[in-house]
Amino acid sequence: MKERELMELAVQARERAYVPYSQFKVGAALLDSAGQVYLGCNIENAAFSPTNCAERTAIFKAVSEGVTEFTALAVVADTAEPVTPCGVCRQVMAEFFDPQMPIILGNLKGDLVKTTLQELLPASFTAKEFRSDERRD
Ligand code: THU
Repeated sequence: MKERELMELAVQARERAYVPYSQFKVGAALLDSAGQVYLGCNIENAAFSPTNCAERTAIFKAVSEGVTEFTALAVVADTAEPVTPCGVCRQVMAEFFDPQMPIILGNLKGDLVKTTLQELLPASFTAKEFRSDERRD
């Protein structure tokens, strides 16, 4: 699937955002290794902190269906520059994404930036840290 196609699906997912508090709609489209796409939108909450970002909605939908192998993610919002994922989402991505997997960031004007988790979250904390054989305790 082409980057623009995945981004178009993220634009469609964005329409379903539940954002009564921020009015800031975000959409995500996550492509798995079998070619299936999982869509996500942000889902806000009156208590604020339970809010789920679009990226995590897409990832959690896929993982809850037994899918953990991904090949690309597109994220979009109505921003001047292509939207950039929050730190919590980057950490969740680090659990499942190859550091070099393409992450396509966009806005409604059609601007695209292609990046990777390696660029967005270098030196990330993952399971390799606490599975280290060299751990001393
Ligand atoms: N948001 C996302 O969905 N993804 C991001 O990467 C940044 C922030 C949402 C959370 C909240 O609903 C709204 O945008 C404003 O922060």
